[in-house]
Amino acid sequence: MLDLLIHNATLPDGRTNMSVAVQNGRITDVAPGLQAPTLEAVDAKGLLLSPPFVDAHFHMDATLSYGLPRVNASGTLLEGIALWGELKPQLTQEALVERALAYCDWAVAKGLLAIRSHVDICDPRLLAVEALLEVKRRVAPYLDLQLVAFPQDGVLRDPQAMDKLQRALAMGVDVVGGIPHFERTSEQGALSVKLLCELAAAQGKLVDMHCDESDDPLSRHIETLAFETQRLGLNGRVTGSHCTSMHSMDNYYVSKLLPLIAEAGVSIISNPLINITLQARHDSYPKRRGMTRVPELLAHGVTVAFGHDCVMDPWYSLGSADMLEVASMGLHVAQMTSQAAMRQCFEAVTTSAAKILHLEGYGIEKGCNADFVLLQAQDPIEAIRLRATRLQVFRRGKRVAQSPAATAALNLPGRPQTTSLMHSGR
Ligand code: FE2
Repeated sequence: MLDLLIHNATLPDGRTNMSVAVQNGRITDVAPGLQAPTLEAVDAKGLLLSPPFVDAHFHMDATLSYGLPRVNASGTLLEGIALWGELKPQLTQEALVERALAYCDWAVAKGLLAIRSHVDICDPRLLAVEALLEVKRRVAPYLDLQLVAFPQDGVLRDPQAMDKLQRALAMGVDVVGGIPHFERTSEQGALSVKLLCELAAAQGKLVDMHCDESDDPLSRHIETLAFETQRLGLNGRVTGSHCTSMHSMDNYYVSKLLPLIAEAGVSIISNPLINITLQARHDSYPKRRGMTRVPELLAHGVTVAFGHDCVMDPWYSLGSADMLEVASMGLHVAQMTSQAAMRQCFEAVTTSAAKILHLEGYGIEKGCNADFVLLQAQDPIEAIRLRATRLQVFRRGKRVAQSPAATAALNLPGRPQTTSLMHSGR
């Protein structure tokens, strides 16, 4: 007897009329038209059944703090960092945990069941580290929370940061972070990349550094990150986040850089909502888009994910844990409008992000965890277009969230009585 059998689902790769069988929290079979005794059957009605959304880059310690103690007037990264510095001494563990748990509720409602969150370790109390480790433990039944030890004030610029970062790793933080473009000089930035990669190699940790988050065409820490990855044999275990300066770099230089990133197996995470709002604040017109070169990275075989980065915090006043909104913004900013490119944008918030996090048992295949989202859309492109309603969200075969279908009642002569905005003419 199965625990759950989903019928008539469309999968992201285009397979239709698929059944997904679940027992003991795992997918036991994926095939067309399966029939078997089951405790519960769900008719997907031909709609898209996707593995859950994955956010590869987030800051859960700052989320939902918008307006505390004031809002970011200039809209810049640097004022956001200063504002966060004002807020840090006022933080309490209870408030941090409460805000993070509230955000995780939103995430589950939106079918977002895995998040890599950076956590600021530049606080002698390591309050945010303790809080997010507590949150990680509490949400574990329904959400995978992976933590990155992030030295927000610079691992060399803050003289105690390396010690605090190592304490955070010892407490159970999973990944080594960094922020080389915020160190005092380019040389210090490069040194920070070297030291942090050596630390990760010594401790067997993954690496995910904020890298070149500026409009400076000469900010080149991603080059150092790729070099150190090669030197230390960390291929496949290292990620550069943001990399916005690549937008502004010289084209010849980028033609050399992209193969180096690919050769080192370094992944890239772009954060479209944040990059399009924080970057180019010093430009007049024309204004740069400030997002890294996503299609070109993909063309070189680099794994690229889109992250949300911020929701209602010192850097960004909007957001709702909706990774389809993130994918939509990435698609628009990068002009990824071909059929294949739009599908890559969906992968950037699902499978590609899961790969970067090294998530185990992810996907809709036999033997994977029974984690999936039934979307009110017929395929990944329609899901992005509609930011489709998450009709049902499952974790280990149990329903953890559901939402009513989005339909509007119409009162128009000679027209249908309802519309869902799904395109039936395919
Ligand atoms: Fe970030």
